[in-house]
Amino acid sequence: TEIAARVGEILDAHQGMEGPLLPILHAIQAAFGYVPRDALPIIAKHLNLTRAEVHGVMSFYHDFREDPAGRHVLKLCRAEACQAMGGDRVAQHAQNRLGIEWHETTKDGRITLEPVFCLGLCACAPAALVDGKVVGRVDEARLDAIIEGAR
Ligand code: FES
Repeated sequence: TEIAARVGEILDAHQGMEGPLLPILHAIQAAFGYVPRDALPIIAKHLNLTRAEVHGVMSFYHDFREDPAGRHVLKLCRAEACQAMGGDRVAQHAQNRLGIEWHETTKDGRITLEPVFCLGLCACAPAALVDGKVVGRVDEARLDAIIEGAR
């Protein structure tokens, strides 16, 4: 398959590297936008690991996606300063509005919701990252506007 071919190239490019699993996963995510399930057995075999071990590493680091992201990625800060300023309420509101949980994507493929941990915007908590752009003081109304704007 196309995935297998591309994954094979990436594995070759990391040949002989020490501790290659993370760099390989990052390269695969950069190539596909996520780490396709079909890639796991190929990586596992190549590195003499079990599929479960590869999957374990993937889920330990929250950077890796198992499915393609939606057209927009909404990240809400879950760290302390933002929680103290109502971040939990806003997060709950986002999940209700979108009908998804963390790391999920709306059925129409429009928005993926992800937690982040401190965007360095604590003074304007609660903070969010909308398609890579920081937004501060995100209350329910601002969140609705963000969701509305993300077509
Ligand atoms: Fe949310 Fe710092 S805790 S931006």
